[in-house]
This record gives sequence, C-alpha cells and structure tokens, in this order.
Amino acid sequence: MNLKPYLITGGAGFIGSNFIHHALDVRSDWRIVNLDALTYSGNPANLTGLPPECADRHRLVQGDIRDPELLQRLFRENRFSGVIHFAAESHVDRSILGPDLFLETNVMGTFRLLEAAKAFWAAEGKPEDFRFIHISTDEVYGSLGPDGLFTEQTPYDPSSPYSASKAGSDHLVKAYFRTYDLPVVVTNCSNNYGPYQFPEKLIPLMILNILEEKPLPVYGDGKNVRDWLYVRDHCEALMAALDKGVPGETYNIGGNEERRNIDIIHLLCETMDARLDRSGAAAGKRLIRFVADRPGHDRRYAIDASKIRETLDWRPRHGFEEALEATVDWYLSHMDWVNAVRTGLYRKWMKDNYDDRVEK
Ligand code: NAD
Ligand code: TYD
Repeated sequence: MNLKPYLITGGAGFIGSNFIHHALDVRSDWRIVNLDALTYSGNPANLTGLPPECADRHRLVQGDIRDPELLQRLFRENRFSGVIHFAAESHVDRSILGPDLFLETNVMGTFRLLEAAKAFWAAEGKPEDFRFIHISTDEVYGSLGPDGLFTEQTPYDPSSPYSASKAGSDHLVKAYFRTYDLPVVVTNCSNNYGPYQFPEKLIPLMILNILEEKPLPVYGDGKNVRDWLYVRDHCEALMAALDKGVPGETYNIGGNEERRNIDIIHLLCETMDARLDRSGAAAGKRLIRFVADRPGHDRRYAIDASKIRETLDWRPRHGFEEALEATVDWYLSHMDWVNAVRTGLYRKWMKDNYDDRVEK
C-alpha cells in the first residue's frame, strides 16, 4: 500500500503522543515521522506498546523544530502530505520563571517550520490537499469574567509569556495563509487531561501528590475556572480539522465542562480516597494548602465550540467525571511511567516553583 507520510512535531509529549496512538489506530494508510527534541516533557516511553503493524509506521526523529537543515532534509526525504504541529514549551509556570525558551521554541520554532513547509509545498506545485495544522490554546484570548465564552472572533489578549508566545505563533501561521496561501488550519483548545500528561499540570500533579500524601498547592482562592477536555476527544477534533477544516480558518475546541480548580481537587481527593481506602483523618482533603497566586493568573476560560460542532460535525464523547476517573486509574496503573518521568530535573522544578510559595 502507498502510505501517506505526515510530519508530527512534539509527538513524544502529552497530546502529540495521544494523537499518534489515535492516528495509527484509525488511519492504516498513514506513515508518521515524529520530530521531537525530547525536552523534559517529551518521552519516547509514551509511544511504547504500539502493536507491530502500527510501530512500523512510526519513526521518532530526535531533533529541533528550530533546525532549518534538518527540516529541509525531512521534507525532501519524506514528501509529507501534511504537518501536524504540537511541539512547544507548554507550561505557564515555567514561562513565568524562564520566558526565553518559550519565545525561541513557540515563535521562532513555528516560524522555521512554516518556512520549511512553504518551501516544500511551493516546490511541489502548491498541492491543494496539503495541510499545516497548528495546535494552539484558548489561553491566547486572555481571561473571561463570570459570563461569556471565547469564540473565534474574540480578540487576542494573552496574559502569560506562554500564551503570548502561542499568540505570536498563531499570528504567524495565519499570516502564511494570507500572504503565501499556505493551507493552514489553526485550532485553539481548552485544558486537556488524560494519559501521558507530565505531572507538572494540575490534574496529574494533584493525583501524584495525593498518592504520596504531599501538600496540594492551590493557587489563590482556587476559584479559577477552566474548561476541561479529555485528550482523546481533542485528538478526534484534530482529525476533523485535518479532514474537513477550511484553510485559513480557526476552530475553537472545548469540552463544555467548566470546573473551578478547587472542585476538581476535591473530586480527585474523593476518587483517590476510594481507590486507596483512605478516610477520616487520612482523607486526601487534609493535604489542601492555599498558596500564593500565579502572577497574571487568568480567572476563567470557557469555549464556544459551536463552529467545529456545526461545520465539522465534531463533539466530545467523554464526560468529565467519568474520564477523570479513567485518568486517575491510568496513573495508578502506570507507576513505572510516573517514576521514570520524575527525574532529578523534575525534582528541581518542584523546588523552583513551589518552595517559595508561602501558604496563605
Ligand atoms: P508537552 O509539553 O507535553 O509536549 C510538548 C512536546 O514538544 C514535547 O514532546 C517536547 O519534547 C517537544 N518539544 C519542545 N520543544 C521542541 C523543539 N524545539 N523541537 C521539537 N520538539 C520540541 O505539551 P502538550 O500539553 O502535549 O501540548 C502540545 C501542544 O498543544 C502545545 O502546542 C500546546 O500549546 C497545545 N495545547 C495544550 C493544551 C493542554 O492542555 N496541554 C491545551 C491546548 C493546546
Ligand atoms: P495548569 O494545569 O498549569 O494549566 P493552565 O495554566 O494552562 O490552565 O493549571 C490549571 C489551573 O490550576 C490554573 O488555574 C492554575 C491552577 N494550579 C494550581 O492551583 N496549583 C498548581 O499546582 C498548578 C500546577 C495549577
């Protein structure tokens, strides 16, 4: 069979690896080149256990999206049908402590990738079915008050170096459509959760701290709201954007599952208590600590996903409570994976980010 080659960047990270599992499963005619620099959050172990017929169609290339020669060689050798771009520095707290890398990877890296894709696409005679899918975040829109939703028309108003760097990359991608006609599609998604998420983000961090009976650091008053989406639903939305998305368009993706941080933490405590048979003085909620807020902390994110629902016929298939339980069970049954990612560098991060956050 003639396999269709796709370049996936950042495919050893959380969402990218889930997407590769999904794509190899549902697209038997795909061959994937996974370009990943294997930073602290990139982990080849996220892609082990693929069935042999899938593993043969996936190749991990350790390399940087900021490397033009490498990109040029990969395009020349593989003649990709499309690019699905996940690679990024992705954690807000890290962007506050060290923004440089966010600008370099998210803005300059995306620029280098666009240049390589444009050069290849132009040399091939500008094939109409080529696609550049840029995976972005709802955080580019800034913070909402108690009412309203982010639509594709909401003006960009990013608060953190992370979201500002993602906003910059979104603008570049759209400029390559307007200026050069490169067939790009931009997606802006809400907070994801599920297997393989690096345990610096809210949900896996809380699961593991409850397990180890460590403090649960709640930023500010814990009433910040996020709209949560199970990662597999995000992967299906990205497939719909690739198959049916209109070049030059943006699609907001969300789960319509708004939750306050503190409510999620309570739910995780209860779920973990049930799994670990803890109650009374041993119950997880005793570990909750309200700590200094994140600077520039957005109050509320909420997505209006009606465009992707109505025009691409996508909707999430997992409810929050059920998929959160499945996520807890995934972490509890993958302690080898957990222990392997919690290297010395992870311990240093926990010290840098949390040691100075005095309890309030
Ligand atoms: P992640 O940090 O788990 O994965 C990022 C991956 O990119 C890692 O494998 C890392 O090694 C790789 N990478 C980093 N710099 C690179 C470089 N210079 N060259 C090549 N590879 C590099 O992040 P994630 O949560 O999987 O996020 C993936 C994408 O989705 C990001 O673009 C992020 O902005 C976006 N996004 C994430 C969420 C979320 O809730 N996690 C929500 C919406 C959008
Ligand atoms: P996070 O998982 O970092 O995602 P994002 O900042 O991209 O939304 O954080 C989700 C929410 O949880 C956010 O409001 C910050 C909060 N949070 C805490 O209260 N404590 C923590 O230790 C972390 C990591 C996050």
